[in-house]
Amino acid sequence: GRALSDAAASTGRFAGTAVAADRLDDPTYARIAATQFSSITPENAMKWESVEPERGDFNWTDADRIADFADANEQDLYGHVLVWHSQLPAWLNEGDFSPSDIRTIMTDHIATVAGRYKGRVDRWDVVNEAFNEDGTFRETIFHNAMGEDYIAEAFRAAHRADPDAKLFINDYNTDGLGPKSDATYRLAKKLLAEGVPIHGVGVQGHLVLGQQPEDMKANLQRFADLGLDVVVTELDIRMELPVTRKKLLRQAVEYKAVTDACTAVARCEGITVWGFSDADSWVPGWFEGEGAACPYDEEYKPKPAYYAMKLAYTVA
Ligand code: G3I
Repeated sequence: GRALSDAAASTGRFAGTAVAADRLDDPTYARIAATQFSSITPENAMKWESVEPERGDFNWTDADRIADFADANEQDLYGHVLVWHSQLPAWLNEGDFSPSDIRTIMTDHIATVAGRYKGRVDRWDVVNEAFNEDGTFRETIFHNAMGEDYIAEAFRAAHRADPDAKLFINDYNTDGLGPKSDATYRLAKKLLAEGVPIHGVGVQGHLVLGQQPEDMKANLQRFADLGLDVVVTELDIRMELPVTRKKLLRQAVEYKAVTDACTAVARCEGITVWGFSDADSWVPGWFEGEGAACPYDEEYKPKPAYYAMKLAYTVA
């Protein structure tokens, strides 16, 4: 059959996947990543602790490898992530820095990383997970140093470094309507009013089987109505193990519903799955007793969820 990316392209959208650099050595993994998807997000390779483990000591091996893979396969590259409280290097987390040091370190980091991939990244997650569940700002080293201004600063720095990249704010539990997506909406509106170069909102889409947000389409649409693009950036739908036939079919229905929500919104540019195979997913390592969240199984065979996404694009 035709590739998932072709089905997505028939609606003008991309089909993306997160990729782990070391898994590209596996020919099956590399073949599926190359042939089924039209956008690649490095799962960990562009994070701060990956690219600058010691201060001033950069390691671009994995990030370059993934960028080269996307180039070689004529895929979009979705950069992840410039400013995030998690996976920061120890030197930054544990260092004794003044607020103005933190500001300079942050803007230098953005200039270095976004500058290195200038012209090659289609979309960047500039700021990730800025909010608590109740919609207040998360206290991070960046927020502590600069208050909420760190967000505008980060977008301006990213735009200076790579003026052609579309710049996104990204978060989890913002897929449907709620306090956290309301906060994202208010912030996006404010940034736009201030002329900050923000171009899109990413909803991660780390979902739980049976707990699908019903108002996803309305939520995506309100961001689009601000003049922003939207992307489902990290989709997976985890289930309690063991896997049953019924759960896999239910999961397929929910993958289709997410895809339908995206295709119903003209400015939804595509969906990225957070790893395509259950063999490589982050889920079992983080949620005991849960897994099987991806569209391919552990043997790299497509699951009902894969066919459901393809069907959703085909009938859209
Ligand atoms: O690479 C080291 C390895 O050398 C070491 O032996 C091993 C032992 O713990 O750890 C390995 O690093 C792990 C890394 O993944 C690569 O596998 C880290 O411990 C582990 O914490 C890290 O987890 C990643 C997680 O972000 C960190 O917060 C997941 O792979 C990644 O899927 C996940 O992705 C995030 C997005 O960036 C943001 N949104 C949520 C999403 C899921 O948490």
